Amino acid sequence: MTTSQSCARVAVGLGGRAYQILIGNHALDQLPAACAALPGRRIAIVTNATLDRLHGSTLRRCIESSGKGVATIVLEDGEQHKNAASLALIYDALLRDRFDRQSTIVAFGGGVVGDIAGYAAATFLRGIRYIQVPTTLLAMVDSSVGGKTGINHPLGKNMIGAFHQPTLVIADTRFLETLPDREFRSGLAEVAKYGLIVDPAFFAWLEANCGALLSRDAPAVTRAISRSCEIKAAVVADDEFETRAESGRVLLNLGHTFGHAIEKVLGYGNWLHGEAVACGTVLAADYSRRLGLVCIDVKQRIAALFDAFGLPTELPALAPTDLVSAMMQDKKNADDLIRLVVLKGIGSATTTFASGTDVEQFLRNPHAAAYAAGNP
Ligand SMILES: NC(=O)c1ccc[n+]([C@@H]2O[C@H](COP(=O)([O-])OP(=O)(O)OC[C@H]3O[C@@H](n4cnc5c(N)ncnc54)[C@H](O)[C@@H]3O)[C@@H](O)[C@H]2O)c1
Ligand SMILES: [Zn+2]
Repeated sequence: MTTSQSCARVAVGLGGRAYQILIGNHALDQLPAACAALPGRRIAIVTNATLDRLHGSTLRRCIESSGKGVATIVLEDGEQHKNAASLALIYDALLRDRFDRQSTIVAFGGGVVGDIAGYAAATFLRGIRYIQVPTTLLAMVDSSVGGKTGINHPLGKNMIGAFHQPTLVIADTRFLETLPDREFRSGLAEVAKYGLIVDPAFFAWLEANCGALLSRDAPAVTRAISRSCEIKAAVVADDEFETRAESGRVLLNLGHTFGHAIEKVLGYGNWLHGEAVACGTVLAADYSRRLGLVCIDVKQRIAALFDAFGLPTELPALAPTDLVSAMMQDKKNADDLIRLVVLKGIGSATTTFASGTDVEQFLRNPHAAAYAAGNP
């Protein structure tokens, strides 16, 4: 990572598909030059109604100053609109406006907009360029990096998609000023995940800088995003298409198998994704104790950090059988076993397979289960 004028730079090393992530409270200043250097004459901003109202004119002015023609495609806000209808709206607008293969899409919003706009870019005229301008903490540290794009199907989340890498990611922390507090805290769960899977020093830094992060202190937030992006970039560069079962990319699912089940059984929208991931990560730590991999102090440090972030750490009253059947449907499982990311310590993770019966027994009393198994 290099830093200049409060703008940090992280490279995603993917050979011919390599790109930069620019992070900081003036990162957007780099966008006009980047747009001017693009081959085509036209740029389509894909955003949602909330972002368009709050920051649409800032982004339009910024891109127009590059000399390119700009069109804005505004989707409705919400995960329920991450669907084929929104995608069709984008294709309609691009075709009507005669966008061609040299054109570029700028995805401007959180993970929902980033995923749909990225998928539109992956498929329009068999693939055009796109730039990610993420505006949520989750999108800055996770969804805008790595090239996973897609939409939901009525039968399942993220079921239609493609790998398509952006040509640039610009994470300007000024956009976070309008992000609701709950959304910001939810993104911190993913930030903590990076420390937990590979970087104990980063996790300790998060513990020490919790107050600065929650007050959205720009240098602290920039550092948290940069380190998260460095870790995600390394994992993505190592396994771009998520084909190797044992690559680090799988470890990004820490807390997600439990978390997705909680989100689904509680009913989507009741808890934010990061809230379910926080709770799921504490469960993963408890499950790791059950396997004798970590002691209680590891779980306590994780729960204390999430508590400080204002994220849930206790499993809500949900039937273990319902949670297990949701986990069984997770597309990341093999055969009829549930794949779980478990911890070997703060900053060290691995995967394991568990039977539904075992996980169900564990979920009946996650705290006590570790003691029952004879582990501290
Ligand atoms: N592609 C990937 O690798 C990947 C990884 C993780 C998550 N995702 C996807 O990301 C999505 C979740 O993303 P999200 O958490 O960013 O949710 P989101 O995109 O729905 O954004 C959350 C809310 O915040 C609003 N918002 C965004 N930026 C704002 C700002 N700066 N100021 C005020 N309001 C703002 C949005 O309009 C929305 O209402 C899910 O669909 C998930 O599947 C994708
Ligand atoms: Zn996640």
